[in-house]
Amino acid sequence: MTDSEIVEKTIAFVKEQFVGAEGGHDWFHTQRVFNNTLRIARDEKVDLLVVSLAALLHDIADAKFHNGDESVGPARAEAFLKTLPVPGRVRQHVVDIIRHISFKNSLEGPPSFESDELFVVRDADRLDAIGAIGIARAFNYGGFRNRPLHDPDIPPQTDLTKEAYKKSEGPTLNHFYEKLLLLKDRMHTQTGKELARERHAFMLQYLEHFYAEWNGRA
Ligand code: ADP
Ligand code: NI
Repeated sequence: MTDSEIVEKTIAFVKEQFVGAEGGHDWFHTQRVFNNTLRIARDEKVDLLVVSLAALLHDIADAKFHNGDESVGPARAEAFLKTLPVPGRVRQHVVDIIRHISFKNSLEGPPSFESDELFVVRDADRLDAIGAIGIARAFNYGGFRNRPLHDPDIPPQTDLTKEAYKKSEGPTLNHFYEKLLLLKDRMHTQTGKELARERHAFMLQYLEHFYAEWNGRA
């Protein structure tokens, strides 16, 4: 089987996993992360099969939708990869990336796994959390959880631990300060940093308008 046939098979599998998914964590999110990954990878020296498979499989069972269980996604990805003719080291690398890609895990202290391939896919995933798409995804997720858009009496908590972050029930606007606005400075690749700058600036502009309208100044 060629690498592109392996990628095609993976795309078909991943699409099936997302039937009925929340709008911010669905096949289209995965497709955007896959496209961002290919774009970033053009300027990096990475294994293209590894980053492609990791991008496609990174969110098939997000812990948020599995009672916080973080083992479901990597286990499901590993089981699927075993059905494909890919070398064991490729499979292991992809599973390691899926296990370590999450923002929450970066709140826990020094990472236990890093690779250039992880940096590429993680930047690709983080880009989709910011900018116009990032704003849409945050409010969609907030709606899905029935959270208020904004509540001036509930300030953001910027020093969240991983467990507190997972439990956070705050208004969606707080999520900008708890995560989205922090991502720009956490990008690793040159392309990721450049794309993040523009998306970040757009979020700041958005927030300015939001507060102006909220306070009746616009
Ligand atoms: P990661 O998967 O990188 O650990 P999360 O699962 O916390 O990150 O978040 C993924 C995306 O889900 C965010 O970028 C955002 O769009 C949405 N999201 C997660 N938590 C919240 C929240 N409390 N309010 C609004 N959106 C959220
Ligand atoms: Ni993702």
